[in-house]
Amino acid sequence: MTLPFCDLSAQYKEIKKEIDRAIGGVIKRGDFILGEDEKLFEEEFAEFCHTRYAVGVSSGTAALFLAVMSLDIGCGDEVIVPDFTYIATALAVSYTGAKPVFVDIDEKTYNIDTNKLEQVITKNTKAIIPVHLYGQPANMAKIMKIAKKYNLKVIEDAAQAHGATVKMEGNKKQAVGSIGDIGCFSFYPTKNLGAMGDGGMVVTNDTKIYQKLLMLRDYGRVSKYEHAIVGYNSRLDTLQAAILREKLKRLNTWNKSRQDAAGIYNKYFKGVDVITPCVADFSGHVYHVYAIRTKRRDEVCEAFKKRGIGVIIHYPIPLHLQKAYSELGYKSGDFPVSERISEEIISLPMYPHIKKQQIKIVVDVLKGVLKK
Ligand SMILES: Cc1ncc(COP(=O)(O)O)c(C=O)c1O
Repeated sequence: MTLPFCDLSAQYKEIKKEIDRAIGGVIKRGDFILGEDEKLFEEEFAEFCHTRYAVGVSSGTAALFLAVMSLDIGCGDEVIVPDFTYIATALAVSYTGAKPVFVDIDEKTYNIDTNKLEQVITKNTKAIIPVHLYGQPANMAKIMKIAKKYNLKVIEDAAQAHGATVKMEGNKKQAVGSIGDIGCFSFYPTKNLGAMGDGGMVVTNDTKIYQKLLMLRDYGRVSKYEHAIVGYNSRLDTLQAAILREKLKRLNTWNKSRQDAAGIYNKYFKGVDVITPCVADFSGHVYHVYAIRTKRRDEVCEAFKKRGIGVIIHYPIPLHLQKAYSELGYKSGDFPVSERISEEIISLPMYPHIKKQQIKIVVDVLKGVLKK
């Protein structure tokens, strides 16, 4: 038996007719750049996130980069990011000339440790980028409180968390991306809402930021050949938008299937010597990734490989130990939680169409290794 880490063909099979029709519609109209589906998808995605605006961009990395740019952050400024995330979160800061400043993560949720956040704030700090890692929201109530105290902007990296919710003050549930000043999403194909290529989205309630983002993603344009700022060519492809519109209709159902699959994993792992995901009481987790921890990771990975089961390590090297960031002067031991988690974490197959029997096989393979 082989079992992929993520099975996109199952998703396509479910909605083939709708996707093919959507692609055909764009080809027929020929409005490939900022066309009808792109505009409608922005409206629908803003509604989904309960924000006033959404701006389609070329990737999740572009979303983050343009978000930082839109806040006029650059050389001499510092932006706080968690040490344990995909590198794009920090790269987006670096592209602007600002310095990413890393913070260790919480041992249970793997999100930025809000107890350590204030220690790194300086007079140069301009913003915080919390990441909703694996689909679990960061502690946004606490982050917003700290941001307010120090007058900092908040850019949510929701690349892995489309549809996740956070309980804010008064137990009010809010969609991720809608809480900070700006929310950023990736539509990389395997994401909870994935395109058939690259894509991204920035959401905000702020009219000024929205207008700046519209220019930044489209050559700094104010009319066809009139350019107010030095912008980029970073638009969301209309073909991708047409595909994403169809998938957005199913996102809540697919997220529910992921939650059910996570529940099945949790049940089968009862009594097994692994650490299963811990869901914070404020968070509505959407399980982009189902990650467990074991000290015997190498043996476990070997066994999965032998059985043809796809697993991934998100992430084997924390940001402060990446060669790309060596000039920042961090060293081994600086972020002990992040370092330990990076040695023990392993992401198991997870997608909406995964079956109970498949989950059982994954757990049985793991149990077989741990029994030895
Ligand atoms: C947390 C996080 N931020 C940003 C990105 C970048 O998104 P993209 O691959 O669409 O550029 C990713 C994508 O993997 C991600 O997981």
